[in-house]
Amino acid sequence: MVLSIYNHKGGTGKTTTTINLGRVLKDIGYDVLLVDLDPQANMTYSLGIQKTDVDAVNLSEDNIILTEEGLNILPNYTSPQFLVDYEFLSPTSLRDELATCFSGYDFVLIDCPPAMNNTVVNALLASDAVLLPVLLDVLSLEALNQVNSAMTLLLEDNNHKFDFTCVLPVMVDSRRLLTTEIKKVIMNSFNVYIFENHIRMNVKTAEAPSHGKSVLAYSPSSNGSFDYKRVAEEFLSCISNL
Ligand SMILES: Nc1ncnc2c1ncn2[C@@H]1O[C@H](COP(=O)(O)OP(=O)(O)OP(=O)(O)O)[C@@H](O)[C@H]1O
Ligand SMILES: [Mg+2]
Repeated sequence: MVLSIYNHKGGTGKTTTTINLGRVLKDIGYDVLLVDLDPQANMTYSLGIQKTDVDAVNLSEDNIILTEEGLNILPNYTSPQFLVDYEFLSPTSLRDELATCFSGYDFVLIDCPPAMNNTVVNALLASDAVLLPVLLDVLSLEALNQVNSAMTLLLEDNNHKFDFTCVLPVMVDSRRLLTTEIKKVIMNSFNVYIFENHIRMNVKTAEAPSHGKSVLAYSPSSNGSFDYKRVAEEFLSCISNL
């Protein structure tokens, strides 16, 4: 399965979710590839990969790096040399490349940039499923509205459909009453699956990238590790019913 982790709003936990969901799926025993499609290269950096570790610019099997904690990642570059600049390629370039070079993985998780551009179009059209991490606040609800409309049009125009579209509440502070209300609005307004489990606000989760690790490696007993394990179980249970 190719899964895009996407939201055009910035700072919604896309990179954090890609790393930690990927790590749990790997621990369960799946073959997982993480693809850093964001020119900000946050995932590459967050897994402890320095620019100098990477010596080629094409999306190819040769460029996969195995991190210290055993995650396979196709890294991105920090500017000015990106992994591949999808802005200049056809909308289905990534789909074609994943099908030919990377079909051996159980899960390919794509960390998307916070945008709606040709790079994201490439990711979405290569994907069987999309996971939208959202903060449960009013502005995020508006962003979800926009992203849902844009994705619907994109899928229609390209005759593509997802097997599974899901929304994952992240950085949740359950003391805020509004969060429950917003979850209800999402459930009632969008034709998407909203996770019953969520990711709590957690200091260890925020600290892990500066140590070049997932939160599961950095702090195995943290709430962050616990939450991503529960979410991964729920995710697997959902897709087993597809
Ligand atoms: N559960 C959490 N608890 C606390 N901090 C978190 C949590 N999840 C993510 N963060 C922090 O929030 C910030 C944004 O997260 P992240 O980089 O994953 O978002 P993003 O959607 O990938 O951002 P961008 O849109 O820039 O790519 C980071 O500093 C990250 O460490
Ligand atoms: Mg990111």
